Amino acid sequence: MGRLNRRSTDALIFLIFLVFFASLTSAWKKDEFRSCRQTPFCKRARGRAPNSLPSFSVADVSLSDGAVSARLVPAPTLRQVTDDDPSAADGDDASSRSLLLRLSVYRGGILRLEIDEDPSSAPTTKRRFRLPDVLLPSLDDRRLWLSRLSSDGPSATSFFLADGFEGVLRHDPFEIVVRRAGSGGVPVLSLNSHGLFDFEQLRAKKDDENWEENFRSHTDSRPHGPQSISFDVSFHGADFVYGIPEHASTSLSLRPTRGPGVDESEPYRLFNLDVFEYLHDSPFGIYGSIPFMLSHGTRSTSGFFWLNAAEMQIDVLAPGWDDPAAPNAGRVDTFWMTEAGVVDAFFFVGPGPKDVLRQYASVTGTQAMPQEFAVAYHQCRWNYRDEEDVAAVDAGFDEHDIPYDVLWLDIDHADGKRYFTWDRVLFPNPEEMQKKLAAKGRHMVTIVDPHIKRDDSFYLHKEATEKGYYVKDASGKDFDGWCWPGSSSYPDMLNPEIREWWAEKFSLKEYVGSTPSLYIWNDMNEPSVFNGPEVTMPRDAIHMGDVEHRELHNAYGYYFHMATSNGLLKRGNGKDRPFVLSRAIFAGSQRYGAIWTGDNSADWDHLRVSVPMILNLGLAGMSFSGADVGGFFGNPEIDLLVRWYQLGAYYPFFRAHAHHDTRRREPWLFGEQNTALMREAIHTRYSLLPYYYTLFREAAVTGIPVMRPLWLEFPSDKETYDNGEAFLVGSSLLVHGIYEKDQKSASVYLPSGASWFNLRSGVKFDGGVSHKLAVSEDSIPSFQRAGTIIPRKDRFRRSSTQMVNDPYTLVIALNGSLAAEGELYIDDGKSYDFVQGAYIHRRFIFADRKLTSIDIRPSNAGDKKFSTDCTVERIILLGLPSGAKKAVVEPGNHETNIELGPLTLRRGSTPVALTIRKPNVRVADDWSLRIL
Ligand code: NOJ
Repeated sequence: MGRLNRRSTDALIFLIFLVFFASLTSAWKKDEFRSCRQTPFCKRARGRAPNSLPSFSVADVSLSDGAVSARLVPAPTLRQVTDDDPSAADGDDASSRSLLLRLSVYRGGILRLEIDEDPSSAPTTKRRFRLPDVLLPSLDDRRLWLSRLSSDGPSATSFFLADGFEGVLRHDPFEIVVRRAGSGGVPVLSLNSHGLFDFEQLRAKKDDENWEENFRSHTDSRPHGPQSISFDVSFHGADFVYGIPEHASTSLSLRPTRGPGVDESEPYRLFNLDVFEYLHDSPFGIYGSIPFMLSHGTRSTSGFFWLNAAEMQIDVLAPGWDDPAAPNAGRVDTFWMTEAGVVDAFFFVGPGPKDVLRQYASVTGTQAMPQEFAVAYHQCRWNYRDEEDVAAVDAGFDEHDIPYDVLWLDIDHADGKRYFTWDRVLFPNPEEMQKKLAAKGRHMVTIVDPHIKRDDSFYLHKEATEKGYYVKDASGKDFDGWCWPGSSSYPDMLNPEIREWWAEKFSLKEYVGSTPSLYIWNDMNEPSVFNGPEVTMPRDAIHMGDVEHRELHNAYGYYFHMATSNGLLKRGNGKDRPFVLSRAIFAGSQRYGAIWTGDNSADWDHLRVSVPMILNLGLAGMSFSGADVGGFFGNPEIDLLVRWYQLGAYYPFFRAHAHHDTRRREPWLFGEQNTALMREAIHTRYSLLPYYYTLFREAAVTGIPVMRPLWLEFPSDKETYDNGEAFLVGSSLLVHGIYEKDQKSASVYLPSGASWFNLRSGVKFDGGVSHKLAVSEDSIPSFQRAGTIIPRKDRFRRSSTQMVNDPYTLVIALNGSLAAEGELYIDDGKSYDFVQGAYIHRRFIFADRKLTSIDIRPSNAGDKKFSTDCTVERIILLGLPSGAKKAVVEPGNHETNIELGPLTLRRGSTPVALTIRKPNVRVADDWSLRIL
């Protein structure tokens, strides 16, 4: 088809689309998405009362291969067959077959429970799906070989779990308990304490049975029938539970969804969906699913992870849900339901919050270390129209003295939404365009979605078709669904061969018009299918090995992200850290890059909800996340936009983005005063880049997130447990958003056990108190914790890459003992040389009026070295009693004056802190500085 023809066809498709999409605009109101009641497995499971099911008992407990193995034997079924519960059909042996159970223990306080059907008695050839590729391969090396089982009373078996913890398998009825060893065996976590365990076993279909399910106009053929699993999990000693992202909820903790005091409400749904204009406060599933929940309270912190990528629904049960007369205190009960798969679950014993995060990270991995540029500011819009537009936006940043690092191109840059191609009318010289940006140290990101346009003249489609690489529909044909390019098919990312093929597409040779400074955005990878049930792929679509889409739905986007990230890794011969932003996520996505919270709206509620969303993502391993600054849909009022920049500057992933229907909103379009405010917010982020990069290193090593709920650092301060308005960046910086228009004051709780210095005024505030603070338009409340040292770079450049050789500023906030500590991590910002030791890691310690810089890079870090000539140009001291005049630097015995200087980057800001200028020490060296 000629160019013109193709363009007009595209225009037509786009028109059809607009109409289609307009009909989706109020999707929620029109029940586009299923509620629990409309989801038979959820309705069935939720309808059961505690202890109403035939129970399972444990038999044949033994040690095999260093793990506990046993059979779960169901009691004879008394369950009635009802329309709602076809699984109870009698005459079938499914409910009398025993299940196989295995309990394994991993170093560091982790118990794994696996329950599956017994293949030797299976009546069908179908095997339940076990999701590969998520658990770290190194997990096997961490398994502890159990050599002894003890009996725990007449009908329970106990075994060693970790120092101070043991696991217990109760026999009749079946129950798993993780408890503290000795001292009365205080429980930490338990499963099936309320007898809600149920496992619908696969069985042969009877002639008169119909397993189909219908939702709106869609029919799900369900060829393998009911196969859901459900059970209760109790978190003992807990006041709140958190995690299981992704949901849009304004509360940090997960609110109860059932029980006394809870109005009719939905469970938290984990089902990756392209939810158009998602609500700001709802338990419905959106783009990502991480089935990891953690609990916290004054007495205990623990975690639970269920490795299962089928649709999941989770109830948080209010105290008294089981017995209103005896509400449970100091325990949170939860109820987990899934449509398919197996039980492969992990219990994390803590005991501290960071222990739980490390335990989870040892199972699913830590955040991939990003390139330094990716931690800086990103400018996106659907769409930057053409090369002139790109050049003008790029120049606009320079003219207005605003740094940025990455310019993004959305779907319209490609020729008819054929990703990996360019619309050559709009982008005739993509390589040159990228090179121009690269010359200023900037990067570009283009979008590559999983839907491939079904166009025989499109090489990608031809190849995928010929090789049989597409997901199949229930009839065995290539699945054909509707997405941005119109009729589309989706590569089967479960298949490693197809992922390899996909990865090759990112080579500079295959991705024509790409250059090494181009990185990738994976969108719509839930996957989004506009004409599919709930805007996604039908559950009976087929993947490699006859795996039904229902069994791996929540991991499709994960695999797509993985394949893309590996593509960039290959492109750079394993030397260039990939940057791939993904919308859909699953447990482990942190290993492949960054994510964002999708299509938010330009309103104050969405600004507010961004904080608990990012915090819960971080708790579930996804450190590198952020929300679209300004809101994707709609036109933000200017004060909202400014507040969003001020808050977004602290998100781990900092990007502005907007829908094509919105007015342009580059930060200089709203008058000089507002430009100055947004510039200052972005400058704040750039000055803090060394601190952020150091925190990303911590996240990459330990799994502790960059952006943290207050309770993670102050676990015994109850006031912090449900605070979703404020957060910590690392352990040293506290930020509180301003979430209302014309807000003149804010009530800011500062955690107890520390004092806090206002980042702008230098004024010290007590912790353990809610402070009513006046709020001005120029900043949001932010504080440095006393006792910490934050490294900054305060010279403004065009992009982070141009700051590489700039000198550092250290901001020292002293505690009551006039002491403080902080860290700085530096590497080349882009390669993997750090794995072989090519990095600098310093700890700064201030005590006894002396600041010392020590090397904390372990001696066995590797043979490669990294060096830098960067110096420290300024040291700012907060909380030092006045009178200090001089500092002496060693080695060299060099004296330098101490003066009063400003604390912030604001031009013309007043001097409020003691400042040591030009101590002239190299950041890589050992040195000390004594205050006289
Ligand atoms: C949906 C994404 O969430 C949004 O960010 C993007 O701009 C559009 N798709 C178009 O690609």
